[in-house]
Amino acid sequence: MSRIEVQGVWKNYGDRVVLERIDLVIDPGSLVAIVGASGCGKSTFLRILLGIERPSRGRVLLDGAPLPPEPGPDRGIVFQRYTNFPHLTVLDNASLGLELRKSRLLGRLFGARRRAVRERAAAMLTRVGLGHVLEAWPHQLSGGMQQRLALAQALLVEPRVLLLDEPFGALDPGSRAEARALLLELWAETGTTVVMVTHDLAEAFALATRVLVFDKVRRDPQAPERYGATVTYDLPGYNRRRRGASAATAAPSHHPGGVP
Ligand SMILES: Nc1ncnc2c1ncn2[C@@H]1O[C@H](COP(=O)(O)OP(=O)(O)O)[C@@H](O)[C@H]1O
Ligand SMILES: [Mg+2]
Repeated sequence: MSRIEVQGVWKNYGDRVVLERIDLVIDPGSLVAIVGASGCGKSTFLRILLGIERPSRGRVLLDGAPLPPEPGPDRGIVFQRYTNFPHLTVLDNASLGLELRKSRLLGRLFGARRRAVRERAAAMLTRVGLGHVLEAWPHQLSGGMQQRLALAQALLVEPRVLLLDEPFGALDPGSRAEARALLLELWAETGTTVVMVTHDLAEAFALATRVLVFDKVRRDPQAPERYGATVTYDLPGYNRRRRGASAATAAPSHHPGGVP
């Protein structure tokens, strides 16, 4: 669970202003959806949160500290089209991030350590419904299964923040519904702060605790690149569930003497 603070962030590429004056505090454990027109800078914003893109102005704090200059395991990301290693099995793909992370601390992993990592990866794959395809190749998986693999992989390193860029956009309706339900379960289980871009407004409100709309407040018809998008609406989502609360006990309207 981590708190993200975005302070006065602007982003321009040369003369093209993409984002302007973004100020946000994202509460730990929230599930924030970002919606907005194509090209308005949503992916750019996620890349800034991931740390692979620097703001032109302003800064991003994660739990009060500036983002490290390189993306680390504290931030995980899932893209719309999952890119995995085609020559590695599902289990090897899932184990890789964890192995790399641990091996950076411990040197190359062998024996019991390596087995422990692979067991954790296998357990997570089972958790997301891929326990029966551990030895399959990525191309043998359906789109929905690939996205579940991507979620498992991102969550295995226990990121403080999970970023999702239109993660379900390429899925058929059945797989999309499954993947959404899985995301909600994993979010509730892990308490990870989630920031998700989607172009589906209904999805945004259904899944998120908070919905941010990115749009331009100023436009210059002669020079469309002159102004960038900012947060024009900041709305509560329909997901009132708190971390650890089951759906049945979620969001009681009254807390007699207790902590909400
Ligand atoms: N590396 C880059 N260099 C130049 N322009 C870029 C770069 N990345 C994104 N842009 C521009 O920034 C704008 C926002 O892009 P993007 O963040 O991908 O929008 P969205 O995800 O909302 O569709 C687009 O006009 C895009 O062309
Ligand atoms: Mg995008």
